[in-house]
Amino acid sequence: MSTPVRSKRLNIPSIRARKGGTPLVCLTAYTAPMAGFLDPHVDILLVGDSLGMVLYGFDSTLPVTLDMMINHGAAVVRGSQSACVLVDLPFGSYQESPEQAFRSAARVMAETGASGVKLEGGEEMAPTIRFLVQRGIPVCAHVGLMPQAVNVAGGFRATGRSEEEAARVTADARAVAEAGAFAVVLEGTLEPVAAAITAALPVPTIGIGASPACDGQILVSEDVLGLFSDFTPRFVRRYAELGGMIGEAAAAYAADVQARRFPGPEHCFQPFRQKPRD
Ligand code: KIV
Repeated sequence: MSTPVRSKRLNIPSIRARKGGTPLVCLTAYTAPMAGFLDPHVDILLVGDSLGMVLYGFDSTLPVTLDMMINHGAAVVRGSQSACVLVDLPFGSYQESPEQAFRSAARVMAETGASGVKLEGGEEMAPTIRFLVQRGIPVCAHVGLMPQAVNVAGGFRATGRSEEEAARVTADARAVAEAGAFAVVLEGTLEPVAAAITAALPVPTIGIGASPACDGQILVSEDVLGLFSDFTPRFVRRYAELGGMIGEAAAAYAADVQARRFPGPEHCFQPFRQKPRD
């Protein structure tokens, strides 16, 4: 398959201008090598706080710190050339006040080189989003199922089933777009609700478990590649089974080491041979 070539990084106005156009292709990345593999094929690389669960083995995203996000964000920027890189603000780094959010977001922007931040929350975060955008920080909002609110919601479940839930997520999406978010991630939201929100907003919606009606799609790369868990959520399509391949490779290596088939002569260093004298 040929690799598309783009000359420079996709910027925030270009992402915003994709409203109603060719769907935005977005994946998560947490490391420089993974960013390098994905970069030519995506519009957005999101350094998601899902890294807490996927890379670090936590059972929620709550223990993720700002320093973790900054280290991974900087690695993803170093490993990519053309995609727009966004970094999640982790739990506790922005909810207290717009000023706290600005300090955290400014560190992310200055220390990673990312193009913007993403934060979870609807109407209650609108003043914070306005504060950040007015001070030069592009914000992608995240509404619907919000993993950082797992303890309030009582679990990870899709939203928009009751009229009340549908009205809440719609009001949240409108509020964050009005506040200046350049895009809105809609997670775990019923299809008709996601479709109505997408039709109503002036900025792109990026769906995860929110139907093809959205202006773009995002998934966790490890879910797509079969690298995370055996359980595949309903909203994920697996395009590879790399976890199985890693297991097979490790088993072949173990068998070679135990049978002394590895290392072979070609992997060994030998003393330099002296040139014969005439
Ligand atoms: O943390 C994350 O990876 C995310 C995406 C799944 C949207 O927020």
